[in-house]
Amino acid sequence: MKNIKETIKEAEDKKIAVGHFNISDLAGLKAIFETARRLGLPVLIGTSEGEREFVGPRQAVALVESLREEYNWPVFLNADHTHSLQKIKEAVEAGYDAVLFDGGKLPFEENLRQTKEVVSYVRATRPEVTVEGELGYIGTSSAVFEKLPEGAAANEAQFTSVEEAKRFVEETGVDFLAPAVGNVHGMFKNAPNPRLDIDRIRAIKEAVGIPLVLHGGSGIVDEDFTAAVKAGISVVHINTEIRVAWRKGLEEALRAKPEEIAPYHLLPGSIEAMSEVIEKRLKLFSQMV
Ligand code: G3H
Ligand code: ZN
Repeated sequence: MKNIKETIKEAEDKKIAVGHFNISDLAGLKAIFETARRLGLPVLIGTSEGEREFVGPRQAVALVESLREEYNWPVFLNADHTHSLQKIKEAVEAGYDAVLFDGGKLPFEENLRQTKEVVSYVRATRPEVTVEGELGYIGTSSAVFEKLPEGAAANEAQFTSVEEAKRFVEETGVDFLAPAVGNVHGMFKNAPNPRLDIDRIRAIKEAVGIPLVLHGGSGIVDEDFTAAVKAGISVVHINTEIRVAWRKGLEEALRAKPEEIAPYHLLPGSIEAMSEVIEKRLKLFSQMV
């Protein structure tokens, strides 16, 4: 079985993207894993600092590892949006396969300094763990919003610059880079998210030569995904869309079975709703459609 680095490299070579979905419970994990396996695709599971605290870092590792081993399937766990070296250490020690150090809100030089520190810690401790760096601020919450998140990069001048991306990757030695190219965390209720700057993605990819990660995937229109993947995106993160599906699926199950109290009779409603979203996204990212 390919490891996480080889899995993403393969996607890069094939000009497709691996799906990355966040979890905070077993229902989410089941929906993601079973859908990916049914489609014959590798998949990445993420837990942000908050999700990790809820699930437990070692428990998240045990769950994902047990699926990988039992089914001999390329499923990997990422410590998503980690804001301190201390939290990176906690995830690496717990056994995560990948970490994202998110210094996106920091001034460039400070982000560079802290990311370098993270890379040297990881290389010295568990060199098989991949490190992703983040350049540019795209908001923090996977939520349904009324207006764009405060301070998020919203126009060309605020998007990640090609020069900074090049310097950042050369000096930090990160394995993957997450840029701000029109993407934001979260989604509008009844409107698509802002359009992506495909030319910027292509230019950053050419300059850095490593796989790029697109965060804030929820709400992005299909044609932007397709163009972004062709331009150099090798991993796409989705969270808000599956959170919305989780809730809708559960509400429907509760309505349909008002007397039911067994979680395993109600949660399949959530799993089904999440699986529908995951399937559509995975097919799009891997160019099955
Ligand atoms: O790291 C998580 C993702 O970037 C999720 O973004 O909630 O907008 O899909 P999203
Ligand atoms: Zn993200």
